Amino acid sequence: MSDPTNRDLAQAVRLLQAGELVAFPTETVYGLGADAANPEAVAKIFAAKGRPADHPLIVHLAGAGHLDQWARDIPQQAWDLAEAFWPGPLTLILKRAPGVPKAVTGGQDTVGVRVPAHPLALALLRAYAQAGGGRNGLCGIAAPSANRFGRISPTDAGHVRAELGDAVTLVLDGGPCHVGIESTIVDLSRDGMPPRLLRPGHITPEQIERVIGEMPELPDTMKSAGVPRVSGSLDAHYAPRTPMRLVAKQGLAQAVEELQRTKRRYSLLMHSDLSLPSAHSHCQLPDAPDGYARGLYAALRELDQAGGDVILVEAIPENPEWDAVADRLRRATCGSGME
Ligand code: TXA
Ligand code: MG
Repeated sequence: MSDPTNRDLAQAVRLLQAGELVAFPTETVYGLGADAANPEAVAKIFAAKGRPADHPLIVHLAGAGHLDQWARDIPQQAWDLAEAFWPGPLTLILKRAPGVPKAVTGGQDTVGVRVPAHPLALALLRAYAQAGGGRNGLCGIAAPSANRFGRISPTDAGHVRAELGDAVTLVLDGGPCHVGIESTIVDLSRDGMPPRLLRPGHITPEQIERVIGEMPELPDTMKSAGVPRVSGSLDAHYAPRTPMRLVAKQGLAQAVEELQRTKRRYSLLMHSDLSLPSAHSHCQLPDAPDGYARGLYAALRELDQAGGDVILVEAIPENPEWDAVADRLRRATCGSGME
């Protein structure tokens, strides 16, 4: 990692103000940033990612003080969560303020906002705000994860270059991401309805409940443990090109035997100490959810590139602490094997 200098930051700010793309690290994953108030700049994000334009983006802010520029009718719960978790890996869905372009909200009347905790992301956001921000003086950087649509999210600067190449003008290198999976998303935009968890992440529903005194509604996939029966009901996402299968620890030996019988090479992603014969490649992640999450995407990327026929993933514990990781593994499995 080469430490970005003030010159890099100044260049990043200039590029953003000129409507160009800048990739930057956050504590979760790397983001592909553009001036959130400039629809043409936001359109470049969708083009670079190959992402459908009706998908809303998260707007990154230097601090909760900028929230009024982007959201209206902000409920007290939002201020309380911002106070408790920002800067940090929590995205709030709120009603969109009048001046926010629909390009950034996927045409919806709501907007996703967060203040990231990575020092380089914060330095960029503060420098951007100090320089007057983007179009109409609005200070927000729209940034989805800096990967091609549906693919594995990047957790270091090299991954971003491998994913997007020349499509991004500047990649700020802040080293590997500490959290490793995307932010928790909570929807607070529904009048008279309870908060709803849209995406599990490092910040848990219980932590949210402790701040707002109310448990957010959980997505169906988190209500019942285990792999959902209809995998098509999940969005494919975070996916390697190599077909990927989740197998319980006690079923792995048999799965390997079958693959060997049909002369297929397998890669193995595990978190226990296992000794299985002749894996083509393997990665071992920590046997605890935070450490596992931190290394997950780099491991999937490495195993995908290793060129085996199948990636076998040792199933993780069915326990709420593992919900965020379980969500990423299910979606990755569901989308794997497609070009
Ligand atoms: O950790 C993160 O959140 C990373 C870093 C870069 O900040 N960003 C990220 O962005 O994961 P992306 O675009 O890959 O995922 C954004 C998610 C999508 O699932 C999108 O549907 C949801 O946020 N989202 C954004 N705005 C929304 C809105 N107004 N209503 C509902 N969902 C929204
Ligand atoms: Mg993404």
